Amino acid sequence: MKKENKSQNGENQIMNIGIIGTGMLGNAVGLHLLEAGNNLTVYNRTREKTKELESKGAKVVDSPKQVAENSEIVIIVVKDSKAVRQISFDNNGIVFGKHDGLTVADMSTIDPSESEKITEEFEKFKINKLDIPVMGGPNVAISGDLVVMASGHKSTFEKFKKVFETIGNRVFYLGEKSIAHSVKLAMNLQIAMLALALSEGITLVRASNIDPKIFLEILNSTYFKTGMSEKKAYKMIDDKFDATFTLENLKKDIATITDYAKSNGVNLPMIKKAQEIYENASDMGFGKIDYTGILAYIKKINES
Ligand SMILES: NC(=O)c1ccc[n+]([C@@H]2O[C@H](COP(=O)([O-])OP(=O)(O)OC[C@H]3O[C@@H](n4cnc5c(N)ncnc54)[C@H](OP(=O)(O)O)[C@@H]3O)[C@@H](O)[C@H]2O)c1
Repeated sequence: MKKENKSQNGENQIMNIGIIGTGMLGNAVGLHLLEAGNNLTVYNRTREKTKELESKGAKVVDSPKQVAENSEIVIIVVKDSKAVRQISFDNNGIVFGKHDGLTVADMSTIDPSESEKITEEFEKFKINKLDIPVMGGPNVAISGDLVVMASGHKSTFEKFKKVFETIGNRVFYLGEKSIAHSVKLAMNLQIAMLALALSEGITLVRASNIDPKIFLEILNSTYFKTGMSEKKAYKMIDDKFDATFTLENLKKDIATITDYAKSNGVNLPMIKKAQEIYENASDMGFGKIDYTGILAYIKKINES
């Protein structure tokens, strides 16, 4: 369904929005923002990946600086904190396109402490930064159905709330600090475990020559079903691992989770084990497929 940035009196408010990082998620968010009637300026390190957005009306520019110059709010959707820093502060970075009222909102999944430091660096340039990590992939971003977890200054959040409500079907404001990223890490911990649990369950029933569809049908009749077991699992048993979120990116998030847990003095034994498994899978060449391809890795290690 087409959504718009509704103002308090119910009118659609067209906004000048920028996106830096038009990978799988950034591209889908951008397509939806365009469909909602906004003006969109985009930059991606690999220009090729801006083609679809350009064909739908986005303005493609040559630097993060130019995105900032053209936008009221710049949404960052890049791989990790190193990339966030580069596009923010390096030559031709966002801060060089500063103008009054510019706000930055980081949707990338990164370490909460790193995010806080990045927010402080933006503040030195008198630029407001929000954190807006999301749950849901490109397939739901395309219709504005992400779940948005936001943190940062409340007044800045309120100013752009309508944009976040266009991007997501649920928007949770969590507080002033980079707390949204802490919650996001706890979310991705669920994703890592669910994909593993499903993969091991499927592998176990297959070993007894039981059709994994029966396993899924029974699982999905119980309290223990999940969105993943009801949807993606059927692709998994058909060996369909087209990426909506790569195993490599989940591996990156698991490393962030374990580092963050360690720095907070928390022992999380399961995610440490999961880290080893996803790292082995990536080393064996499964990094570019969907994270649910962890099933293909488990199949592989059982063949040898
Ligand atoms: N896909 C999902 O379901 C999902 C859901 C929630 C959150 N996320 C998070 O959103 C972010 C993007 O995910 P994605 O799925 O869109 O990944 P992706 O398709 O792999 O895209 C990664 C993006 O980051 C850019 N990038 C990487 N390193 C860079 C650098 N050093 N400088 C500038 N740009 C750099 C890439 O540019 P190039 O094209 O030039 O490589 C690309 O635009 C990640 O933090 C991910 O964890 C993803």
